Amino acid sequence: MRVGVLTGGGDCPGLNAVIRAIVRKGVQEYDYDFIGFRDGWRGPLEGETVPLSIPAVRGILPRGGTILGSSRTNPLGAEHGVRRIRDNLAKYEVDSLITIGGEDTLGVAATLSDEHGIKCVGVPKTIDNDLSATDYTFGFDTAVGIATEAIDRLHTTAESHMRVLVVEVMGRHAGWIALHSGLAGGANVILIPEQRFDIGQVCAWVTSRFRASYAPIVVVAEGAVPAQGELILKDGSHDSFGHVRLSGVGEWLAKEIESRTGKEARTTVLGHVQRGGTPSAFDRWLATRFGLHAIDAVRDGDFGTMVALKGTDIVRVPIAEATARLKTVDPALYAEAGVFFG
Ligand code: F6P
Repeated sequence: MRVGVLTGGGDCPGLNAVIRAIVRKGVQEYDYDFIGFRDGWRGPLEGETVPLSIPAVRGILPRGGTILGSSRTNPLGAEHGVRRIRDNLAKYEVDSLITIGGEDTLGVAATLSDEHGIKCVGVPKTIDNDLSATDYTFGFDTAVGIATEAIDRLHTTAESHMRVLVVEVMGRHAGWIALHSGLAGGANVILIPEQRFDIGQVCAWVTSRFRASYAPIVVVAEGAVPAQGELILKDGSHDSFGHVRLSGVGEWLAKEIESRTGKEARTTVLGHVQRGGTPSAFDRWLATRFGLHAIDAVRDGDFGTMVALKGTDIVRVPIAEATARLKTVDPALYAEAGVFFG
C-alpha cells in the first residue's frame, strides 16, 4: 500500500509532527510506503513529489513549517483538475491520500472523496481554530502563545509612553486567537469578526483606561468589521480560493482612536510571526495524535473522514460535515471577556 501525503493552505506549527507520526506508524506498524506531494494540491495536480520515509522524517518534530511545502492551489478550479490528479496518483501508484489542511484544502478532499471516489483522509489544521467538528486544531495554541507574549511586551512600552497600542492578530472569520490571547494578555479591548464593533464604544473604553492611569491595549482580529462600515483592507487582492487578503483594520483603528480621543495610538501587526517557528508542546501532542489516528483511518479503509479532537479523544467525522460550516466564537463566550474592557 502506498499512501500520499500533502499539506495545503497557510502553513502552521505542527505540520511536520503530523507527517512524522503518519510515516513512523505507517512504516513500522503497517509496512506501508509513502510519497509526499509538494505544495498542497499543486503536487498531485502537477505530479510533483517528495520522498517520504522514516529517515526523511527524523528530527522534524519541533520544526515549524512543512517539509512538503504548502500552497493555496485549488485543483477544482484548474483545467481537467480531477483527471490530472487521478492520472498522477495512478502514475505514482498511490492508493490513498492523507490531506492536512484547513477548510479549503479539506473542502477539496471532501469533493474528491465523495464525488470522484479518490480515497482521502483529512487532518484538520489552521492557526485560526475555526474548523467545526474538532475542539482544537494544532497551530492555534502556538499562535495564541506568540500573540500573548507580544501583548505582554506591548503593555510595558505602552505604559512608558502612555499611548494606545493596537495589536492586529490573524483570524479571518473567527476571533479565537484575538479572544484567547486578549484574555491571556489582559487586553483592554478585544475585537472579533463575529461581532461588529462600535468605534465610539472602543474610544470610550480607551479613554476610561487612561482615566485609571493605564495605557490601553486593543487586540483586533484582522477580520473584525466596524458597525459603521465595511471590512477594512490594505489592498483588494485575492488568493486562488477567492478569499480577499486581509490586514488593515489595525492601522485604521489607530488613526480613528487618535483623531477621536486625542491620544497617540500605534499599531503592531503580528502577521506571519504567528504561523512561524517551533510548535508548542500542546500542538506537538495534538499533531502527533492526529497523525497516528489518520494512518489508522487509512488502514481501516475509512475514507472521506477527518480525524478530530473531542475532549481528549481522537474521533473520525465525515470531512464534508467538518467543512460545511465554520466554528466561530459564541456571543456568550465573547461577552465573558467584556468584564475587562475599558
Ligand atoms: O488561514 C489562516 C490564516 O492564517 C488567516 O488567518 C489569514 O487571513 C491567512 O491565513 C493569511 O494567509 P496568507 O499567508 O496566504 O496570506
